[in-house]
Amino acid sequence: MVFDIEMIKKVYAALPGKVEATRKLLGRPLTLAEKILYAHLFNPATTPYERGKSYVEFAPDRVAMQDATAQMALLQFMTCGRDKVAVPSTVHCDHLIQAKTGAQEDLATALDTNKEVYEFLSSISNKYGIGFWKPGAGIIHQVVLENYAFPGGMMIGTDSHTPNAGGLGMLAIGVGGADAVDVMAGLAWELKMPKLIGVKLTGKMSGWTSAKDVILKVAGILTVKGGTGCIVEYFGEGADSMSATGKGTICNMGAEIGATCSVFTYDDKMAAYLKATGRTEVAAMADAIKDHLRPDAEVYADPSKYYDQVIEINLSELEPHVNGPFTPDLAWPISKFAQAVKENNWPEKLEVALIGSCTNSSYEDITRSASLAKQAIDKHLEVKSEFTITPGSELVRFTIERDGLLNTFDQIGGVVLANACGPCIGQWARHIDDPNRKNSIITSFNRNFAKRNDGLAATHAFVASPEIVTALAIAGDLTFNPLTDKLKNKDGQEVMLDEPTGFELPSKGFDVEDAGYQAPAVDGSGVQVVVSPESDRLQLLSPFAPWEGTDLKGLKLLIKAKGKCTTDHISMAGPWLKYRGHLDNISNNMLIGAVNAFNDKTDSVKNQLNGEYGPVPATQRAYKAAGIGSVVVGDENYGEGSSREHAAMEPRHLGVRAILVKSFARIHETNLKKQGMLALTFADKEDYEKVQEDDVIDIVGLNEFAPGKPLTVVLNHKNGSSDEITVNHTYNEQQIEWFKAGGALNVIRSQFAA
Ligand code: F3S
Repeated sequence: MVFDIEMIKKVYAALPGKVEATRKLLGRPLTLAEKILYAHLFNPATTPYERGKSYVEFAPDRVAMQDATAQMALLQFMTCGRDKVAVPSTVHCDHLIQAKTGAQEDLATALDTNKEVYEFLSSISNKYGIGFWKPGAGIIHQVVLENYAFPGGMMIGTDSHTPNAGGLGMLAIGVGGADAVDVMAGLAWELKMPKLIGVKLTGKMSGWTSAKDVILKVAGILTVKGGTGCIVEYFGEGADSMSATGKGTICNMGAEIGATCSVFTYDDKMAAYLKATGRTEVAAMADAIKDHLRPDAEVYADPSKYYDQVIEINLSELEPHVNGPFTPDLAWPISKFAQAVKENNWPEKLEVALIGSCTNSSYEDITRSASLAKQAIDKHLEVKSEFTITPGSELVRFTIERDGLLNTFDQIGGVVLANACGPCIGQWARHIDDPNRKNSIITSFNRNFAKRNDGLAATHAFVASPEIVTALAIAGDLTFNPLTDKLKNKDGQEVMLDEPTGFELPSKGFDVEDAGYQAPAVDGSGVQVVVSPESDRLQLLSPFAPWEGTDLKGLKLLIKAKGKCTTDHISMAGPWLKYRGHLDNISNNMLIGAVNAFNDKTDSVKNQLNGEYGPVPATQRAYKAAGIGSVVVGDENYGEGSSREHAAMEPRHLGVRAILVKSFARIHETNLKKQGMLALTFADKEDYEKVQEDDVIDIVGLNEFAPGKPLTVVLNHKNGSSDEITVNHTYNEQQIEWFKAGGALNVIRSQFAA
């Protein structure tokens, strides 16, 4: 048993009493999210918290980290003074495996090239009581769903798709490594009390429609910002009819609408999945308190009274969707997609189709896709696109191999990739004749920002269900609608694909030979964690300097970023992933993907010291060498995307003092605060236009830095004029302490030393 049954027993023993106390405190019926949130307060509440306003301290039950983010999180944890993690925690080696030829070879290559990182993660996990999932064991969120997620629990994970565990009724939230350090250190974890969006699912899915289409539709409605600061709670008979893994897919991709997390209410489908994955005892415990794991009956009766926003989707009418390109909220029902492809001049030829990933590699997904692959064989169809399959875990891979499904994919030319992130995170050595040629790919993954999958700007990436991806792979054509269109087979006949069919769970049960788990040492005090000083991939951390106690004056404008600036633009993934444990080296990718508003170029900014244009990191290093701080200015939803705190640590390390934007994505804003940075927003968004290329910037009012109190920024222009503008912030008292101490870790260390 890899999960901590005693911890779950404790949570369930306390839950009914805590829910009752919350109902009394709020004086009304409760949603599921409220039950879980209030049951996980660090200290009992004396007054209700205001959604969207109050900062609240929580005590999550678990922490999960993937290998790219775990390096920095654990390097930080090492310095906080504890000998063991305070809550059950795990590390998952999934992000560093590059997809090139196929699972076995790619895994072997990764074991070789990432040896020192894996050894570091394995030994530090062993030392501090952390469960370690080896390379090849699977993708973090799938492994968590199979082993650790439990209804009514709360976890954080250092990856933005952590909410996947909401498929099993858990509040699972993506955070930066610094938050993981807090929780592993036994400290409170802080979050602004989320608002609640209720999604009522009526009807029942059939035919080509799958769970993925629910979230693709929701993304179209809410857009990439619509869920910011919100928990999305799904309920209704449509929800109850959906498999637990389908629910997981929906919660996973809630990250694409910026949601804090998403959650489904406990039902028989969750119980079935718990039992199928060796957790009958957990299912029995959940059944015993199931009323506490669902919203109160009054909430179902009148949802608009209890949620801040309610969306209703009739699954019986829901069409399959294809979203993209370049953003996951550009939602097209399949009946309208072909026309959109033609009108927008997107490349019609589909070059690569990729199924699987943490989002969509359940037994149900694979069997439904395999049913289409089987039709391609039986109906003599030639599969026109390259086709890859990424199993989410070794448990899934072993089981689908045993059941002959991988063999079916093999027969249509499918390539099975390692149980890892691979092309989903840009870890893909794609074979393409001309990397600048406009081309189309489609995935059943979750993100499709430019360059996300293969690093190529000319690639148009679309997202759909595994069934639609497989059907389009067979057609090799984006304008193919499998619900209505025919295909010509090798015999010259016109044939149609039948609706996909599959199984939620394997009839013979799941099976695995070696799941790839390493339990930690009972006493880790003798375990050595070695980081070579010569390493270019790992670097022990030195604390950041505290605030100097004065206003910040004479800061140079480093870049005024225009338009979308995601964490991929700020700290690009792909080839840079290998430096995730080395702050100085990875800082050489800082903001290289951001578009400079003054010349519309990426990675080209004016160095105010010599007037020359150069790469962003080099320019910032020049300011740092000269002892001058700088400011980064950005547009709306700055820092959307992944939870990586490198996007906050790099500017901090290189001497950027403030990020001033029209609006922030939540995780990134928190990460900036944790690192002791100033995260500021324009009080008047029009003031963004006042920022000029040669501006020297003062930040005034820091000695009176207080919650809710705006600061002043003075833009000193080159022509001698200046603009004084008001900027807002969302710092509370504690976060202001972080700023003053030079970062949250500095505060933690002083608490352990005291
Ligand atoms: Fe990995 Fe992609 Fe999921 S990067 S964790 S497979 S979103």
